[in-house]
Amino acid sequence: MTRTKLLCANWKMHRMPDGALREDSPYRSRHGVDIVVFPTCLDLSACIQAGLVTGPQCGRPEAQGAFTGDVSLSMCRDIGCRYALIGHSDRRAHHGETDAYIGSQTVAALALGMHPLVCVGETRSEREAGRAELVVAAQLAALPLERDISIAYEPVWAIGTGSAAALDQIRDMMRFIRSVFPADCREVVRILYGASLQPQNAAEILSDPAIDGGLVGGASLKPRDFAEIVAAAM
Ligand code: PGA
Repeated sequence: MTRTKLLCANWKMHRMPDGALREDSPYRSRHGVDIVVFPTCLDLSACIQAGLVTGPQCGRPEAQGAFTGDVSLSMCRDIGCRYALIGHSDRRAHHGETDAYIGSQTVAALALGMHPLVCVGETRSEREAGRAELVVAAQLAALPLERDISIAYEPVWAIGTGSAAALDQIRDMMRFIRSVFPADCREVVRILYGASLQPQNAAEILSDPAIDGGLVGGASLKPRDFAEIVAAAM
């Protein structure tokens, strides 16, 4: 079965790139590729008003409450976010987000009718210890594995380094992740690659039928680079 490629821009803690909201912006979905942007909360409304498909980089599962500094997934849904980025390794590392908490965010997003894009991936020491699949399996075990979620495999050791994982490492993990999904949605769910996806390696990675798209960090902040990655995905 063919799955439409999904390309996502993770702008992390940066304001949106110049020109992101223009009519000819590379951040707009087009025939053959679905495109989603994950800006900071400050830029969510502007992106939505301009017609970009968007979501928060994190969001609490509770609707509201005494969580100073946070926003809830339901608030994001109410302003028009259709996606939610969940479980990014930055959040796991710097905010102590656990597999169980990431599972609860995913359940909340689904209940709100949002599409969760959940990040999984191992660190360098975990890979070197031969535990990459075990780590990813534990991360997946905390999630409701159903057709309305997407997974981004982001090997933590390759994020922001300029060198992506090797194609066979990516393919092996894609196959493993897909095998963990129940049979009734295994062929439907989109599994993306993220970590140093760039114009130079996008064609090789994104033309692989096992890889359903990408989550792009650094290169997504440069509209020209992102446009080249979009072209590679098409
Ligand atoms: P990178 O980031 O593309 O800069 O490696 C990916 C990510 O952290 O989602």
